[in-house]
Amino acid sequence: MIIAIDGPAASGKGTLGKRLAAHYGYRHLDTGLIYRAVAKAMLDAAADLADEARAAEIARRLDVDTFGDPALKSQAVGEAASVVSAHPTVRAALLDFQRRFAADPPGAVLDGRDIGTVICPDADVKIFVVAKPEVRAQRRALEAQGRGEPADEAAILADILRRDERDKSRSAAPLKQAEDAVLLDNSYLDIEGGVRAAIEIVEAVRAGR
Ligand code: DC
Repeated sequence: MIIAIDGPAASGKGTLGKRLAAHYGYRHLDTGLIYRAVAKAMLDAAADLADEARAAEIARRLDVDTFGDPALKSQAVGEAASVVSAHPTVRAALLDFQRRFAADPPGAVLDGRDIGTVICPDADVKIFVVAKPEVRAQRRALEAQGRGEPADEAAILADILRRDERDKSRSAAPLKQAEDAVLLDNSYLDIEGGVRAAIEIVEAVRAGR
């Protein structure tokens, strides 16, 4: 059983992915963390983010034990992740890891930008999560405040819009809703409401099979 969750930055897909995985007893992979880990390694090495060969080399040697590093969650790393993730050879280097994770029993929930379109096109359930940009910016600002980071909501909104545009317009695995994905608008749902809506989608798709 594979559940694919895609959507733009700060749409709430990570929280939904985690909660769905807990609900069904599946493993969860936030694939954004993989690109963030590559980006952070590039920033730490003071490498040029446009250097595709270097980023792909880092991606090939990625250590999954670093995915828990809280520094991966920062705005700066997210922005850099959006840049390095546009390199096709970086994406290619990370494909097998994601597919292996998805295939392990009993099931897995993966969230990202291209799970339903490229990584797991045959996923059993695909959910595309959207939310209004202003709502997403507000949530990210609250998260940043929680980590003790400065949170300028207008700047965060601009950052989110720029990142969405880059993620949607790149040629390698752009952010887009798979044809067979169910849309979940998370703008006006709290966490519990979003989780309920996602479980309903999973159950409806399973019942229909
Ligand atoms: O979901 P996130 O904010 O952690 O993702 C950070 C960046 O990584 C995002 O702007 C684009 C990239 N990304 C991607 O290209 N493909 C994925 N499956 C997940 C993230």
